[in-house]
Amino acid sequence: MKHYRIAAIPADGIGPEVIAAGLQALEALARRDGGFRLEVESFDWGSDYYRKHGAMMPEDGTERLKAFDAIFFGAVGAPDVPDHITLWGLRLPICQGFDQYANVRPTKILPGIRSPLAGVGPGDLDWVIVRENSEGEYAGCGGRAHRGLPEEVGTEVAIFTRVGVTRIMRYAFRLAQARPRKLLTVVTKSNAQRHGMVMWDEIAAEVAREFPDVTWDKMLVDAMTVRMTLKPKSLDTIVATNLHADILSDLAGALAGSLGVAPTANIDPERRFPSMFEPIHGSAFDITGKGIANPIATFWTASQMLEHLGEPAAAARLMAAVEQVTAQGILTPDIGGTATTREVTDAVCEAIRSANL
Ligand SMILES: NC(=O)c1ccc[n+]([C@@H]2O[C@H](COP(=O)([O-])OP(=O)(O)OC[C@H]3O[C@@H](n4cnc5c(N)ncnc54)[C@H](O)[C@@H]3O)[C@@H](O)[C@H]2O)c1
Repeated sequence: MKHYRIAAIPADGIGPEVIAAGLQALEALARRDGGFRLEVESFDWGSDYYRKHGAMMPEDGTERLKAFDAIFFGAVGAPDVPDHITLWGLRLPICQGFDQYANVRPTKILPGIRSPLAGVGPGDLDWVIVRENSEGEYAGCGGRAHRGLPEEVGTEVAIFTRVGVTRIMRYAFRLAQARPRKLLTVVTKSNAQRHGMVMWDEIAAEVAREFPDVTWDKMLVDAMTVRMTLKPKSLDTIVATNLHADILSDLAGALAGSLGVAPTANIDPERRFPSMFEPIHGSAFDITGKGIANPIATFWTASQMLEHLGEPAAAARLMAAVEQVTAQGILTPDIGGTATTREVTDAVCEAIRSANL
């Protein structure tokens, strides 16, 4: 029997609620499959840990995570701790420390879920957004000077490297090539940003030559929001910078019905380090503790994790179970239903156990 070590970091807000749901589904899958076992260790890192210790995780946090096959992450962020501390104290050191440079964000309209777009249903919106996850606008390069004085200055410098852009383009072209439509859209802003973004475009064109069977086009990020909204079927695989894809994937989640169904995988394609799997959403202060957090994004990212670990059958079974449950109308309030997190989770686990998936 295969055996995988998973580090669970539920962290803040609804993170613990959705990670508990995800672990329940993973356990049901492992039992049903019989061919693999998951050994899960939970870490109490996050804002509570910060309040007690003055840091979001211990100094050797990332070192300890190296022993795991994958990281299953909830959400980070608390009303009384500044967001840049929570993000740079936990999630980003893991993404950047483990060089998880490909952030993969699939979106589609699941059966039974209504898109806010009129006349758009399952099959009309089926995208994978690939986000550059190691540099760009979130490289952390910049500074502040003359703090508090009228002449104060703050800089936030976007960093684009040939190595970084080439590897994300290759990853995106390869992913597009593996999907039936073999269609890639490269998002840019090279009209206004004439250095890094022009290099981004040039490298896209260079890498495209390695993939003659992939049809690709280029969109300015502002026009991309219009195309996503008005012509969703014209898109398939999308590659964008750290900031652009961050924003576009929230839009994608909303167009697919809710942020509560949107998953993300932070992948180290070379497998030097564990990759990290999480829902896109944050701590959702407004619904924390109410038992109504949508667990679907977490199930979907758990499916991405199984795929990455080399368990494609279990990954597909999990998504089939989710789609069966959404089609039956067992939905949390964010997607128009009245079910609780527990009810959706129990229904998904029951579908996993059923014979026909
Ligand atoms: N990856 C992360 O850990 C991450 C991502 C985004 C935001 N954050 C943090 O989370 C905190 C809150 O941020 P925000 O309000 O901008 O974004 P958010 O994703 O937490 O919430 C936005 C809205 O979506 C709803 N929502 C989100 N997930 C849901 C789910 N699973 N089920 C039902 N509804 C859901 C929330 O109720 C809220 O109305 C902030 O501290 C922010 O920094 C963390």
